[in-house]
Amino acid sequence: MNKKHLASVAAPGTVDSGRFAEQVLGWFDRHGRKHLPWQNPRDPYRVWVSEIMLQQTQVTTVIGYFNRFMETFPELKSLAEADSDLVMHHWSGLGYYARARNLHRCAQQVMAEHQGKLPEDLESLQSLPGIGRSTAGAIRSLAFGHYAAILDGNVKRVLARHFAVEGWPGEAAVLKQLWQLSEQLTPHSRCADYNQAMMDLGAMVCVRTKPQCGACPLAQSCVARERGEIGRFPGKKAKTSKPVRSAQLLVVLDEADNILLQKRPPSGIWGGLWSLPECPLEQQSEHWCEVNLGLQVKQLSLLSPRRHTFSHFHLDITPVLLRIEKSLKVVMDESSLVWYNLSEPEDLGLAAPVSTILQQIDPKIPIVENSEGEAR
Ligand code: ADE
Repeated sequence: MNKKHLASVAAPGTVDSGRFAEQVLGWFDRHGRKHLPWQNPRDPYRVWVSEIMLQQTQVTTVIGYFNRFMETFPELKSLAEADSDLVMHHWSGLGYYARARNLHRCAQQVMAEHQGKLPEDLESLQSLPGIGRSTAGAIRSLAFGHYAAILDGNVKRVLARHFAVEGWPGEAAVLKQLWQLSEQLTPHSRCADYNQAMMDLGAMVCVRTKPQCGACPLAQSCVARERGEIGRFPGKKAKTSKPVRSAQLLVVLDEADNILLQKRPPSGIWGGLWSLPECPLEQQSEHWCEVNLGLQVKQLSLLSPRRHTFSHFHLDITPVLLRIEKSLKVVMDESSLVWYNLSEPEDLGLAAPVSTILQQIDPKIPIVENSEGEAR
């Protein structure tokens, strides 16, 4: 490895790549995760799906979703041919729904361009939807057993601490430095075990708060630890507070207690998921309903407001229950609207706060007469 480079970030002579990998692999043999569902049986399709699910979600949460997903879509072909609503339904609750849309598109692209088999080389993998550099490395190493470096959030933390890499990893220069380290340290033999071990170390030992340095195989050579500065690494992004947006989500009930759902456009928040019609906070919901949906409101009541937090902003939601008189006409594209039967719910991908609101709806609750005073 390039010792000169490491000397610039680590105490000179404290590490060599062979020793680093040896310690990581020794720890993996004793403590690494070897019985995760996607490891047994391990095939490229299962590894790929698991890596996409694990991109922003912890192993313990992913396991249940992964097993259910595999029961419904046991092979890449069945995923490629599936209805997108069913795919979104199986992703409901995992969040970051672009991952599910990309997964579906990726399966279709692999069928069309790679004879239904995920490619093994990094360049082809990275050209597929939803597969970035680290995920491509994980698939290449874990599924095919080839050499490839990875750098997910857990690995970034382990390396940033061990080598006291200054700066926020979201910055290009810091990221470049971390990739260089990862590539230099990743061994050619037992690459899959090493990569799994680094992810496990980050998730189980070198955790964000209260890292278990006593259990870490790399503690002896960890620069941040030696300096007593573990909390400072990885560097944090300069703080900006999240903006707050507000909206009314309309629970429109027809005479048979069906609820009107509207499909979100493919991109943006809850892209491709089914949601409740959204009315700007400053508008009167009954009027909005009439103008936009052609529905005349008979009764209205406000439900308790709630906050849903996205990565970039908070959304303050005011759910409004509206009982309609009769359907005049539906102004919006009808294919993006569905009457949802609460007692026999269809398998649709619902936005998480919408699921929560629907669970709390009891059509028999008394609702107050429509009046402007109560609407706002
Ligand atoms: N995070 C991303 N990929 C992972 C994996 N294969 N095992 C554990 N955590 C992960």
